[in-house]
Amino acid sequence: MKKLRKPIVAANWKMYKTVSEGKSFAAEFSWETSLAREVEVVICPPFTALQVVGDGLKGKGIKWGGQNLYPSAEGAFTGEISPLMLKDLGCTYVILGHSERRHLLGETDEFINQKVKVAFAHELLPIFCVGETLEQREDGKTEEVCRRQLEHGLAGVKGADLARMVIAYEPVWAIGTGVNASPEDAEKTIAFLRQVISEQWGQEAGEAVRIQYGGSVKPQNIKEFMSCANIDGVLVGGASLKADSFYEIVRGARRGSE
Ligand code: PGA
Repeated sequence: MKKLRKPIVAANWKMYKTVSEGKSFAAEFSWETSLAREVEVVICPPFTALQVVGDGLKGKGIKWGGQNLYPSAEGAFTGEISPLMLKDLGCTYVILGHSERRHLLGETDEFINQKVKVAFAHELLPIFCVGETLEQREDGKTEEVCRRQLEHGLAGVKGADLARMVIAYEPVWAIGTGVNASPEDAEKTIAFLRQVISEQWGQEAGEAVRIQYGGSVKPQNIKEFMSCANIDGVLVGGASLKADSFYEIVRGARRGSE
């Protein structure tokens, strides 16, 4: 089953890198283009660097995406960014429901659901994040929380669309802390998410959807995650900011390299 799903490695630069830093990364990042057949790579810079990074990545077989959008094509929404604007910059993907937006900016499942629908309406594929806090984990609520985020955040999405998007399981306590989930724990929760998707959106969607792990992924632990049957790639924050460590992660994500 796993063989059919192409691994996907996405870089979430968060609020890091100026235009010139983004430009340098894109110029510096080189990989064997043959690797593009084995691993899909996506870079999500801050909005201000999207154009320069996209231009720099052209011809390298790498895609790019936004880190957020506002669920409207245009309008009086000061400070927000629209799906049309992301498409205009050549984005393929958009990260939605990241825990920093859920917890620091108060985004609800319902608001994230609007974003997901608008992303599809504009042909942007969501990288949709779910994950429990440490407190929820200690209370034994990991599955309950992730199920709710999935069911509410993706309500109304068609099975065929779900099959094309990407889910990222990112336990909040593992993000930016250096403490990654154990591959066994990540695999267990990701297998659970796949089961929920199969139940709610159909077996085909459950088997096709790619589910990433995210949270303190680094070159040293990528292979362990990729050796898990249900993990189809990773969403990388800190370790994606340097071209060499990101390259190591991409290489480690190839099937059979584990
Ligand atoms: P991290 O961040 O790799 O720095 O832990 C992951 C993320 O927030 O997507």
